[in-house]
Amino acid sequence: MAGEMLNVGLIGLGTVGAQVADRMLSWGPQLSRRAGMELCLRRVLVRHLNKRRSIEISPSLLTTRPEEILDDPEIQVLVEVAGGDDPVHSYLERAIQAGKHVITANKVVMARHGPELLDRAAEKNVDVYFEAAVGGGIPLISTFRTDLQANRIERVSAVINGTTNYVLGRMASAGLPLSEAVAEAQAAGYAEADPTDDIAGFDAAYKLAILGSIAYEIRVRPPEIYREGIEAIEPVDFRYARELGYAIKLIAHTQRHPGRIEARVHPAMVPLDHPLARVEGAENAVFVEGDLVGQVLLVGQGAGGRPTASAVVGDLIDLARSIRRGVQFRPSFSFDDRIGVVPMGEVTTRAYYRIRVEDRPGVLAAIGQVFAEEGVSISSFIQKDAWSQDQTAELVVTTHPAQDASLQNARNRMADLEPVRAVSSFLRVF
Ligand SMILES: NC(=O)c1ccc[n+]([C@@H]2O[C@H](COP(=O)([O-])OP(=O)(O)OC[C@H]3O[C@@H](n4cnc5c(N)ncnc54)[C@H](OP(=O)(O)O)[C@@H]3O)[C@@H](O)[C@H]2O)c1
Repeated sequence: MAGEMLNVGLIGLGTVGAQVADRMLSWGPQLSRRAGMELCLRRVLVRHLNKRRSIEISPSLLTTRPEEILDDPEIQVLVEVAGGDDPVHSYLERAIQAGKHVITANKVVMARHGPELLDRAAEKNVDVYFEAAVGGGIPLISTFRTDLQANRIERVSAVINGTTNYVLGRMASAGLPLSEAVAEAQAAGYAEADPTDDIAGFDAAYKLAILGSIAYEIRVRPPEIYREGIEAIEPVDFRYARELGYAIKLIAHTQRHPGRIEARVHPAMVPLDHPLARVEGAENAVFVEGDLVGQVLLVGQGAGGRPTASAVVGDLIDLARSIRRGVQFRPSFSFDDRIGVVPMGEVTTRAYYRIRVEDRPGVLAAIGQVFAEEGVSISSFIQKDAWSQDQTAELVVTTHPAQDASLQNARNRMADLEPVRAVSSFLRVF
């Protein structure tokens, strides 16, 4: 080990970057012993040199000039914890082109450009590590890349966005409307000032694109993933869900079909005895099914500076060991471009509808006829509260499995029926 050193350039010194730097600076001997060589933080790229930092760091390490990392031949590894697509994507490309290894926590870049970056890295004989890009501190990528390699992955289902899980949890337990639950999540530091990426399901779709690509070794693009957010859910849905034996979660789900995969992100009613129904607060959980291993559940802190730094620095140690042995000992990826994504309409799901109707004879028959014509079989049909003042009632319907296109057609056709005031809620049943 004597004399060997791995020089690291870090981009980003925010929530995650500060914890990465702190671990490297304050735990050097322990990390070096595990890595088999000294890990040296040589330069840190930030946007603002004079910003107050949450850790003690020598100002001489900081720079705002990307070339001080990208063009420094002594720096062998680029650790990127800045976020966003450009300019960071171009920094990663430049680093790979210059023969540097890359470690990134950036789900946006990995979901949009990951397969191409991995191809470029393989050509240049360098590695790209991205454990922190999905599930924060939960070891997911390494689990797929090493421990589950012997398996044909059949399905991956996950609660992978901590913000929406926190928000849905507060709506369920305190009966809060969405806007109040989001405001509470923002105050608690679980939601961004603009929470759209989380609430509308974009963040979960990025993560599912990465997980799907790794699990099936295909290129899953974020726009191919069916995506619905949690915007339309109302507190009353949680009450009905509980009565029916379900929790409501934002689910990211992908499953193998002959020659294709399904990939979707949407809120869903999850049976209360399913492990994903019990994921609380900002936690994440990923449920994997492989043909050899059977079912595996991975649970933990899906975000936060320290858990995410755990994954980033873990990747760094892994990389150092691999360099020390002089091997790329982790398998590189080969993507099968013949496998595509099944359109949502062809997926088989179940659904829950909450329908506001006029309380008069013939309504149930009209609704039943729509389901019959769409070939959808009803599992439960309950009349909930009736309001005498405006003579309306609320119906809650759940279905047996059917093609999603038929379930959506039924929703649209019911909304057009004369005695139907509104289809107030439409959720898949998991
Ligand atoms: N936070 C989490 O819990 C978490 C979990 C998993 C993954 N991640 C991922 O980790 C990455 C970082 O997240 P974060 O929460 O640590 O972000 P953050 O707190 O906003 O910090 C971003 C850091 O990057 C720097 N930066 C941003 N754009 C830059 C640019 N163009 N050039 C140079 N420096 C730039 C900023 O510099 P200044 O400080 O000078 O402004 C800041 O230090 C993102 O990809 C995120 O998705 C975060």
